[in-house]
Amino acid sequence: MYTEPTTFSAEEYFATQPPPPTLDHDIEKVREFIQRQNKEGRSVVLVTSGGTTVPLELNVVRFLDNFSAGTRGATSAEYFLKAGYAVIFMHRQFSLQLFSRHYSHSTNPFLDFLEIDGPLSDANNSNDPDAAPIISVTPEKRADLLEVLSMYKDVHKAGTLHTLTFVTVNDYLWLLRAVSQEMALLGRKSLFYLAAAVSDFFLPRQKMSIHKIQSGKGSLHIEMDQVPKILKPMVDEWTKEGFIVSFKLETDDNLLLPKARQALERYGHQVVIGNDLHRRKFEVVFVSRKESEFDEYWLRIDLGEHHGPAHHAKEIEEDIVAELVKRHNAWIEKGKL
Ligand code: PMT
Repeated sequence: MYTEPTTFSAEEYFATQPPPPTLDHDIEKVREFIQRQNKEGRSVVLVTSGGTTVPLELNVVRFLDNFSAGTRGATSAEYFLKAGYAVIFMHRQFSLQLFSRHYSHSTNPFLDFLEIDGPLSDANNSNDPDAAPIISVTPEKRADLLEVLSMYKDVHKAGTLHTLTFVTVNDYLWLLRAVSQEMALLGRKSLFYLAAAVSDFFLPRQKMSIHKIQSGKGSLHIEMDQVPKILKPMVDEWTKEGFIVSFKLETDDNLLLPKARQALERYGHQVVIGNDLHRRKFEVVFVSRKESEFDEYWLRIDLGEHHGPAHHAKEIEEDIVAELVKRHNAWIEKGKL
């Protein structure tokens, strides 16, 4: 017999689903980070990145996953750092990371950047460390690597990046709530950039099989419950003054604007960035409110455009972040009136 899936409110969700074991420890570190950035007068952006999973068993062997490599989040986080923001990068474990993202694709493997000077046989036959061959960076890759490496070192020295990891949608929801509550300290100087692809359905812990689901019984029927829409309490309760940007991913062009407008209407936050799955690397639309009207701002780039010392391709996240920094500054100024 079919039964309607349960719809959890956010409150019911957190009352019935257990927090991840490392939550308190993670949040203590986040608190220290936010307090330091606040003292130093920086704005802080929370960037969520990558897809959440839904485990099917408590001793998890199988899980459902959400599409996202983490490119949008990791790339944007770098541009926020360049714009002077402190960044909390909350990402799916093993999804793309800032800086290393430039070398983690099979099209640009890190080892191809390196050369061995001197015969390998010297190293194998000698106990003398001075006889070991020297590893150096391929000359034509140096400018690129130097740019990324200098930024990586600068960010570490300045202490403006804090990283958090999630795997399941449950980890994500607990972390998001706790980080948002901590960011309330920053008032209007907090920005939320929710690029993660979050599961819409989940299996409550109480309904999960303890052990691996056995295959001997034929087809598998799973009834999942709806994940509460977390943007609502975020806007209304957890971070009332934060500037909140959510993303909307669609595969049907005709749905992109209506769905983005609907999200804005439903949650009452500041911006929804709509992106079509196949066009997301060169076209996005910002949907926001201008008085009682919707405002739509299309941002497009020419993927053939090049810039920078090593002529690498233009990334749309550079323009997305520039536009958001402008809007966030206006939001901060408005708060002073
Ligand atoms: O990482 P890449 O490969 O570069 O891909 C980037 C991306 C396409 C995944 C990214 O740009 C994107 O569009 N992310 C949002 C995907 C999406 O449409 O998610 P959603 O419809 O499930 O959620 C919309 C918004 O509501 C999201 O900002 C999400 O944080 C939020 N949400 C979702 C579910 C939920 N229960 N509560 C939420 O608040």
